[in-house]
Amino acid sequence: PNLFGDSRKNSRGWDLAHKPELVAIDKARNPHLSATFVSKPLISGVLEKSKLLPVLNPSDPTDTVGTVQQATAADVATALSAATPWKADASERAEILCRVADLYEENFGKLFALLSREAGKIQLDVVGELREAVDFLRFYAAESLKQNASSAGLFTCISPWNFPLAIFTGQISAALAAGNGVLAKPAEQTPLIAVAAVALFHEAGVPRKVLQLLPGDGPTVGAALTSDPRISGVAFTGSTETAQIIRRAMAANMEPSATLIAETGGLNAMIVDSTALPEQAVQSIVESAFQSAGQRCSALRCLYVQEDIAPHFTKMLFGAMDELAIGNPWEHATDVGPVIDAEAKADIDAYVSKARAEGRVMKELKSPVEGFFVAPVAIHVNSIAEMEREIFGPVLHITTFKSHEIDDVVAAINATGYGLTFGLHTRIDDRVQHIVERLHAGNIYVNRNQIGAVVGSQPFGGEGLSGTGPKAGGPHYLPRFCKSKTKEVTE
Ligand code: SER
Repeated sequence: PNLFGDSRKNSRGWDLAHKPELVAIDKARNPHLSATFVSKPLISGVLEKSKLLPVLNPSDPTDTVGTVQQATAADVATALSAATPWKADASERAEILCRVADLYEENFGKLFALLSREAGKIQLDVVGELREAVDFLRFYAAESLKQNASSAGLFTCISPWNFPLAIFTGQISAALAAGNGVLAKPAEQTPLIAVAAVALFHEAGVPRKVLQLLPGDGPTVGAALTSDPRISGVAFTGSTETAQIIRRAMAANMEPSATLIAETGGLNAMIVDSTALPEQAVQSIVESAFQSAGQRCSALRCLYVQEDIAPHFTKMLFGAMDELAIGNPWEHATDVGPVIDAEAKADIDAYVSKARAEGRVMKELKSPVEGFFVAPVAIHVNSIAEMEREIFGPVLHITTFKSHEIDDVVAAINATGYGLTFGLHTRIDDRVQHIVERLHAGNIYVNRNQIGAVVGSQPFGGEGLSGTGPKAGGPHYLPRFCKSKTKEVTE
């Protein structure tokens, strides 16, 4: 019997080009645009009193979206002592996770509003994120049955603010599908979405002791949950530096078998040669560099354009940039929303100011004055080697190459040590083969954009400094949350 209906199909999502769907979205979402939300630890046990922090809307910091009660060290200790693996039958677990997916779709209005108000997501990104979250739930539920996945451990899941629903849900659902208990720490910037999501897991039937949520800061919550010997594995998405800190803490405190699954940053490049279709390449670049205000680990950071076409091509690209609408993320027409918070804005602004002073800004748009907006910008570099770190915003670096230098370009991209996404626009089949064989990146996209990996079709994850593997949304992810047991019984 097919317990899960459409479990192996991707979520249908919402069609933003279809007027009746926009009306339905507005109707479901708009009541939540003025509501005030509350997040507090969802643990099995009594919470300690602690102070409430405001959660601000990044596109309008005068809008307090809600408050968060941060978990204290005592709350973390309470959660750890209550935590238990999920002992339900594998088929019951899978059925409950599919119910969570259904609840996400039924409650889309609230999730839509929160993704825009708390995380600053434009509508296109909200739809993509909701679909991805739902896909993860159904995919890991189905995979757990197919692979007969089982564990009986406790997983810590630490997720980022840039996919506060999708990555959050992906980590948790994989750990739960395998029968683990989960202690989840959401990003500090996005505790409200996390609490809304976990409430739906509990409503669907995941026991409170099996899934506990601990919003809070890294030193109090993250450090405790990555150094406790009762934890059997950590799923982490965030910076490479934090992944290294977690690995050291785990090595010092946990059993040698404890697993670290880390997805980290990237310095992602794209090569456009003179045989590329310019319109296709321009659209791919604008989406890859500026959608989600560049706040995707997959986003394009450094573009290599073949010198022969560069003047004409960059003119087209800058023309396309001029068409981007920057503003309120809940307006359906907005292309670029805010960055996540004041700190992110200050960091990116300082980086762009320095490039401006050095005369390297090639193209810059204007952004709204209020709110944490950063205008999309293109900055000249001579090589990707000049880029010291990932700038997590709508900042595209551009350089050129001559046809005979293509192997040097590939070598320079590989030399960054990162290996997350890579884009290639060319009509030369041999060149595709040649580059794909040599380039170190987990996700390579040819003649399309390089963001938006789809669960089940494009398993997502990097190599080198970009992560430990395995790839999320692929068949090898779940086994990392499992323990295998050999059993032989003779009469
Ligand atoms: N999975 C996302 C993408 O492919 C990035 O985190 O864009």
